[in-house]
Amino acid sequence: LKLGVLISGRGSNLQALIDACAAADFPAEIVLVLSNKADAFGLERASSAGIPTAVVSHRDFPGDKPAFEAAMDGKLRDAGVELVCLAGFMRLLSPWFVGRWQDRLINIHPSLLPSFKGLDTHQRALDAGVRFHGCTVHVVRPAMDDGPIIAQAAVPVLPGDDADRLAERVLACEHALYPHAVRLLAEGRARVEGDRVVIGGPAV
Ligand code: GRF
Repeated sequence: LKLGVLISGRGSNLQALIDACAAADFPAEIVLVLSNKADAFGLERASSAGIPTAVVSHRDFPGDKPAFEAAMDGKLRDAGVELVCLAGFMRLLSPWFVGRWQDRLINIHPSLLPSFKGLDTHQRALDAGVRFHGCTVHVVRPAMDDGPIIAQAAVPVLPGDDADRLAERVLACEHALYPHAVRLLAEGRARVEGDRVVIGGPAV
């Protein structure tokens, strides 16, 4: 399965996907890393791994989101991308773009969705007093951090946690979860059926 990974920054989840794809038995390869920021560290990670990169900056399309997204869409199609993976990509994609990649666009989010959509999830989880937090890989729908859930990992909130410590443990889980979710999709062990992802064989 040919992956396009969209990033805006650090790219540690991208690195996890790069590392997973390096294994001979992993059923996917990254054919393009696309960033909306030219200084995203993830671009260096991709180059170091010999993966083609592209930058499409939203700043080059002031007030014209359709043109920004059409440029990204063109790069992804030219590269032969089959599944788009958002990995710390910080722009909300329009219904047009989401529709172009219907059921072939996934995201990782640092909470147990549907709790704590949006930013600052770790502090909000602490403030809410939840005992478990975690991360989610889901199929993207037009609303932010919304869509059929593919995989989740739970992380206990420990006494004395602050947002940074909790974030660190969640991030370690993200790095295992994202490749796992990609594998499930690539091997047909997870399938999108309407507003659900079905795991394994036919529904009973
Ligand atoms: C991760 O926490 C991811 O869940 C969220 O943004 C962060 C990106 O980190 N969507 P990185 O760029 O992958 O290191």
